[in-house]
Amino acid sequence: MGDEDVTPYSDKNVVITGGGAGMGFALAELLVDGGARVVITGRSQATLDAARHLGENAVAVRGDVASLPDLDALADRVKSELGSIDALFVNAGIARTTPFDSTTEEVFDEMLAINVKGAFFTVQKLAPLLSTGAGVVFTTSAANVIGMRDTSVYAAGKAALRSMARSFSRELLPRGIRVNAVSPGPIDTGILEKVMTGEAAEQFKAQVLADNPMQRFGTLDEFARAAAFLAFEATYTTGAEFAVDGGRTQL
Ligand SMILES: NC(=O)c1ccc[n+]([C@@H]2O[C@H](COP(=O)([O-])OP(=O)(O)OC[C@H]3O[C@@H](n4cnc5c(N)ncnc54)[C@H](OP(=O)(O)O)[C@@H]3O)[C@@H](O)[C@H]2O)c1
Repeated sequence: MGDEDVTPYSDKNVVITGGGAGMGFALAELLVDGGARVVITGRSQATLDAARHLGENAVAVRGDVASLPDLDALADRVKSELGSIDALFVNAGIARTTPFDSTTEEVFDEMLAINVKGAFFTVQKLAPLLSTGAGVVFTTSAANVIGMRDTSVYAAGKAALRSMARSFSRELLPRGIRVNAVSPGPIDTGILEKVMTGEAAEQFKAQVLADNPMQRFGTLDEFARAAAFLAFEATYTTGAEFAVDGGRTQL
């Protein structure tokens, strides 16, 4: 007792896409509390408000990860705010549940533009700023290895991210940069209520609980600590995916 480091991230510069809400915000809080300087991104005013809540070590950059000009602007801003990046969390994502036979081209394109293209170009545009020994962490999903109904496009996009973590690991290895993925199972962030009505969301949640070995949702903190571990402490790990899912994809 007494000699625990309360600012383990005090010299760390961090970027979290989608850091203004849900799991990304919980991660931002953990890292800012631990002394990091954090840039969060998102499209909405809520993201800017979130940065004010986080305090003076957080900056919000408004932008859409599916827009390459926005990502160029993000890279410029990160360079001026942080100089270099020690941890990049590629976390922004949307979920749309839709049966495959009624999925529209519009929904297909939107989901893959944000969840896949956005992730790919986030890394490409920010890679020049990554420091030696930096960690990149993708947020994938348990859905990428489970055949769940109404999630084919979302799951395929997350499987693409899981694959990207491997390929980017190889390409960034010469610079000493590790690339991993954290794969959440159900974390109760309210993401479901954004895409389903109350009753449908309740039914979906009940099914998710019934299917989960631990019979509960994961907490925001459980996600945040796993993501931070991959970025900063898993120094002999690259190309891996770490499940934070109550055993859903393992048992
Ligand atoms: N919650 C779960 O159970 C769960 C499970 C597995 C995987 N995941 C994944 O975890 C990640 C975070 O999910 P969450 O539950 O925390 O979701 P959330 O509460 O809806 O937060 C998503 C964040 O992403 C941002 N975002 C969305 N589209 C964006 C875009 N085009 N450009 C920039 N930012 C964008 C949002 O900000 P703006 O609205 O301001 O753009 C928001 O800050 C996602 O990749 C999701 O697929 C979640």
